[in-house]
Amino acid sequence: MTDSVPGAPDGAPPPACPAHGPAVRLSGLAYQQTPSELYRTLRRDHGPVAPVLLDNDIPAWLVLGYNEVSYVTGNDELFARDSRRWTRWDEIPPDWPLLPYVGYQPSVLFVEGAEHRVRAGVISEALDAVDQMELASMCQSIGHALISAFAGSGRAELMEGYAHPVPMHAIVRLCGMPAGGLDTENLVRDLRLSLDAHEGEDPVAAYGRVQARIEQLVKEKRAQPGDDVTSRMLRHPAGLSDESVVQDVITIIAAAQQPTANWIGNSLRLLLTDDRFATTVAGGKLSVGQALNEVLWLDTPTQNFIGRWAVRDTQLGGRGIKAGDCVVMSFAAANTDPGVWPEGHVGAENSAHLSFSNGEHRCPFPAPQLAEVIARAAVETLLEQLPDVVLGAEPYELRWRPSIWMRGLAALPVDFTPVLQ
Ligand code: HEM
Repeated sequence: MTDSVPGAPDGAPPPACPAHGPAVRLSGLAYQQTPSELYRTLRRDHGPVAPVLLDNDIPAWLVLGYNEVSYVTGNDELFARDSRRWTRWDEIPPDWPLLPYVGYQPSVLFVEGAEHRVRAGVISEALDAVDQMELASMCQSIGHALISAFAGSGRAELMEGYAHPVPMHAIVRLCGMPAGGLDTENLVRDLRLSLDAHEGEDPVAAYGRVQARIEQLVKEKRAQPGDDVTSRMLRHPAGLSDESVVQDVITIIAAAQQPTANWIGNSLRLLLTDDRFATTVAGGKLSVGQALNEVLWLDTPTQNFIGRWAVRDTQLGGRGIKAGDCVVMSFAAANTDPGVWPEGHVGAENSAHLSFSNGEHRCPFPAPQLAEVIARAAVETLLEQLPDVVLGAEPYELRWRPSIWMRGLAALPVDFTPVLQ
């Protein structure tokens, strides 16, 4: 492997790790803009499991093969979630950028076995009671309110102004925060800051405020339960502690917001840039539903996920994996694995992609359905309200966010005929 490979930034060549051999850095502009090229190169040079370097040149394995990702996610006793197994912790600095989402926390994300089944079951039951028709209509109202803030101007930036706030407002309301109000606005703002650092802002401080607000929410719902996800988790017969519910409500909110926002943004981009799709709802070419599904195959929001940690020495895709090694699952690469889908992705009706993962720690039922209700309502509402909306830049000018986890646009500028209100 050489520095000419996309993903290897200018400057020092990536070090060769004795255990992995030469590895590729998962960073750099080329990787952000065209990750599919990196996956193609890695597959060609390494096969379905490639040695890579995370930030600060920390070695890990990137799993690119559809069968290998399915195997890892389906064998949680061999590839487990508790990141404290990692044998590299002594190399990781306290300000490591990936730490907030890789460092162990006692939430549903990291617990294992029987405890995980209970926690995931409580979440599923609390989400399953959500009325999906009401959720769709709530998202339409949220969408209308956001659009009315920029409709008169004839132009907008849809990631900040629309794709991110729709799912964020929807999920905090599902969890029992009142509609509107400064309190909810502050929580929405702090969640954004904690997940997606802005210059001059402190994501850790923002996360602290989120935690404090959710602790308060749990206290309020314990005293006065309502018809919401948090109250249902608290009164579940499993009898979770308030601390566990706080952790899992934060997980639900964060896990819902980022991927759903990027699902909305990536689908709008596809609709606005690809002639196969109508840019008007009445246009009658391929539908919004087909765009949403195509994005899950070709531009999936959770492109990579860190990860799983090997419980014992094992083999994967012809590689010797050591106990305590970190395995990063590339859902984006698996979805486009030419060994499984030689003709490319397999069409609008097929949902065999791995975009919601698989196995014990997959995105829990019915979260994928709720995410689709939110995303579809958001996209359809925008196209209905601004029927002549067009991209406000050349497609090649669009920039992707520098994230190993998320495939999402930094900005999506659009133009349309101003709407008089
Ligand atoms: C209402 C929206 C959503 C909610 C409430 C939600 C909730 C969650 C939760 C609680 C988990 C942790 C599961 C566990 O560790 O047991 C999770 C995992 C996951 N979610 Fe979602 N999610 C939502 C939307 C999405 C979307 C839109 C995507 C991508 C298209 C997505 C992809 C994933 C993936 C890939 C994982 C699993 C990572 C792994 O295998 O460890 N989620 N989600």
